Amino acid sequence: MNKLPEKPQQITFDITDRCQMKCVTCNKWKAELPDMMSKELTTDEWKKALDDLKNWLGEGYWFCFSGGEPFLRKDIFELADYAHSIGFKVASMSNAFSIKPLYDKIINSSIESLNISLNSISNPIIHDESRGREGSFEKALDSILQLKKMRDEKQSELGINIATILFPENINEAVPLVEFVTRNKINGIMFQLLDDAESFQAYCVRDCSQTSNYIMPKELRLKYKSMSKRAIEVIDRLIEMKQAGHSIYNSYEQLKAMKVFFNNPDDILKTITCDVGSTNFAIDPYGDVRLCFNMDPVGNIKDSKPEDIWINSESAKCRNLTKSCKMYCRMLNCNFKHDFANFNNSVLSKFKTSIGKFLCGTK
Ligand SMILES: C[S@@+](CC[C@H](N)C(=O)[O-])C[C@H]1O[C@@H](n2cnc3c(N)ncnc32)[C@H](O)[C@@H]1O
Ligand code: SF4
Ligand code: SF4
Repeated sequence: MNKLPEKPQQITFDITDRCQMKCVTCNKWKAELPDMMSKELTTDEWKKALDDLKNWLGEGYWFCFSGGEPFLRKDIFELADYAHSIGFKVASMSNAFSIKPLYDKIINSSIESLNISLNSISNPIIHDESRGREGSFEKALDSILQLKKMRDEKQSELGINIATILFPENINEAVPLVEFVTRNKINGIMFQLLDDAESFQAYCVRDCSQTSNYIMPKELRLKYKSMSKRAIEVIDRLIEMKQAGHSIYNSYEQLKAMKVFFNNPDDILKTITCDVGSTNFAIDPYGDVRLCFNMDPVGNIKDSKPEDIWINSESAKCRNLTKSCKMYCRMLNCNFKHDFANFNNSVLSKFKTSIGKFLCGTK
């Protein structure tokens, strides 16, 4: 019998399904149920979840507040402060479309790391089209540069990172994005493989995928094929840039796995297993807990203690299902099975309490 993993390493709070964008890669914004907001966990319910997690995990864990767009929840700062006050570290991610009035609050908040999604740098249209809203590039760029300036002036320790999905239209933006990060002394950048938009569904309408029978949609396969040669060249260059000291958060092994993927996505299913069952613990806006975001919930944080959910029969069933999974989202940063030996040593020692910060920032 397999030994049960002691504790998860990556905790995600998807605090809302709501989003104001219309990204072509993500289906979350399409869910517009009238009662979505009223069904979300209240501030006190999130705090109780934090207390329960603290009792189980102890201090020092990184948590990622994501969504939907997490900054649409007015209590995000209160929740971050509370998490910080009981010994957790908070990262968050944002499309940055509406955060300008919050810059001061962000700088003074308990959020220690903010990942801003940005899909291009030399051509704003690529980013705007991927996000489905004109002006989103300008807002994301303003957020990155202004927050960086304010952070430096106030000597705040907020980490500011960029999260970029790689797709055919922006593959030539990857290297200029890294150069931008280095030139402007942004903390770092994480690249994310484009996944099936079906995996990015709002939880309130999520119809859990048949992970063992999954077949990649034809159009997505064609997209990968159309960019594969260039993608492999670009990833080789990213590896060189990382070796030269540019702050690219993806591990070498993940970058190498991306090359394998672009050569033939199906090889990934044969060579990389998915370990989310023993690493991930994600709570959705309504309190449902998932180890794999594409599978059924294994419990609800309002009804059960997290340590009981972790060892219940639904979690065991989920872990079993991961073994026959035919999906490619094992390549996503939040799911990729990292080998810590390949992490940059200085980075690892700084964040030795948890790998969450690197991984969840980019789902
Ligand atoms: C789901 S969003 C939630 C946070 C916030 N709304 C944002 O966009 O930054 C988290 C990350 O997933 C990325 N993402 C969206 N669709 C994706 C897809 N099909 N494949 C891979 N990553 C995707 C986004 O660009 C973003 O960096
Ligand atoms: S990727 Fe983020 S910004 Fe885009 S629709 Fe999904 S949740 Fe919203
Ligand atoms: S690859 Fe991993 S994260 Fe994706 S559906 Fe399968 S088990 Fe879940």
